[in-house]
Amino acid sequence: MKDIKKYVEENKERFLGELIDLLKIPSISADSNYKDSMIKTAEAVKKNLLEAGCDSAEICETPGHPVVYGEKIIDKNLPTVLVYGHYDVQPPDPLDLWNSPPFEPVIKETEIHPEGAIYARGACDDKGQMFMHVKALEYMTKNNELPCNVKFMIEGEEEVGSEHLGWFIENNKEKLANDVILISDTGMIAKDTPSITTGLRGLSYVEVEVTGPNRDLHSGLYGGAVANPINILSKMIASLTDENNHITIPGFYDKVEELSKEERAKMAEAPYDEEAYKKKIDIDDVYGEAGYSTLERASIRPTLDVNGMWGGYIGEGAKTVLPSKAYAKISMRLVPNQDWKEITQLFKKHFESIAPEAVTVEVKPHHGGQGYVTPIDNIGYQAASKAYEASFGKTPIPQRSGGSIPIVSLFEKELKSKIILMGFGFDTDAIHSPNEHFGVWNYLKGIETIPWFYKYFTEMSKE
Ligand code: BES
Ligand code: MN
Ligand code: MN
Repeated sequence: MKDIKKYVEENKERFLGELIDLLKIPSISADSNYKDSMIKTAEAVKKNLLEAGCDSAEICETPGHPVVYGEKIIDKNLPTVLVYGHYDVQPPDPLDLWNSPPFEPVIKETEIHPEGAIYARGACDDKGQMFMHVKALEYMTKNNELPCNVKFMIEGEEEVGSEHLGWFIENNKEKLANDVILISDTGMIAKDTPSITTGLRGLSYVEVEVTGPNRDLHSGLYGGAVANPINILSKMIASLTDENNHITIPGFYDKVEELSKEERAKMAEAPYDEEAYKKKIDIDDVYGEAGYSTLERASIRPTLDVNGMWGGYIGEGAKTVLPSKAYAKISMRLVPNQDWKEITQLFKKHFESIAPEAVTVEVKPHHGGQGYVTPIDNIGYQAASKAYEASFGKTPIPQRSGGSIPIVSLFEKELKSKIILMGFGFDTDAIHSPNEHFGVWNYLKGIETIPWFYKYFTEMSKE
């Protein structure tokens, strides 16, 4: 494994070029106009898996976007690593805020990425991170360093809630059987501070619709006498959190896992600079639930956020109108033990109960998923920790993330294996935002670190 660094250095330009080719295909899972691009991307992933050394790879149809599956089985008695990732990306809007087109990747240097970063939708989330695994496999097969079996499951619906992946897993349990699941779809703290994600938040996503009068009305003739759905919706949303920024939905916190003093103290040891945090996103102050630090608010505490809100007149100039309808999309990030379906029901019941008689309210649940937290006393985590030590010369810090990968808890339940979240992105890489990017250094470091995981995991499995 000594020559992995050299291999990465020698093949750097090709590794970048191949990722750039993949990033050019607009695999937007949310938009049905991009169905062909989804298939084209799945085919490209399959081709890359075969070229990297998989014995077989296939495109598996689902009721939604296809899953790409590939494997290299060298010996049935050896352990099997299952790599999961996603080839779909978020829609790139708003397009005018991109400095270069989202599907025409360019490499640019930045303060955080002096070696350059690849700017494109999906660069970090998750094509770039998924592709690190393909290139790590290439290294291992070309250099006779693959110590165990490997399977790849790369899906195309993560960004829209992995609706059909549960179905796919249930129907392919034997095919997907493994000893550990390896995922790079999260982040790390900083270049000199590697970290492994040990927790993810769950999610409940709902849309609400408030209806007042049966048509838009003249806001002079009717204003003051008829409920304005946008005014009402604003009040209802405002009442969902109190002056301490606690969520007011009855029962919301009942199952929230409270961390011990010791666990919280351990979390506070992670390097974190609040001034730098504020500066990077141009805010004068942080804001959140009383009694918790910024790191805690964004990882171990549940949240409620409006993601979008609309209704009435939003065109140019002014139009005097009392709208008939108001809408909002609301997400709740959940923590371990909170059940997303139960929380969705609690939200629905509460939201309907606080609506005044003058309007009708409809709550439409979207997707969701359970949170996840994993202990670190298993060989998967320990092998990952040693892998970072080998490539970074430093022991990684276990870190709980605020993001969600809903399928992770399902993996644990259905496939009964541990999930290792080896992410190489930075929080500042603008995933889901305009100008998403992935550091060239991060990409190459990921490729360098992954083979060590295979080595240590295989060795530790024999012990
Ligand atoms: N890769 C992200 C999740 C993530 C990013 C976790 C960074 C931890 C650190 C994933 O693609 C994602 O965006 N998930 C969605 C949920 C999904 C149901 C759309 C999210 O977290 O909003
Ligand atoms: Mn992702
Ligand atoms: Mn994402």
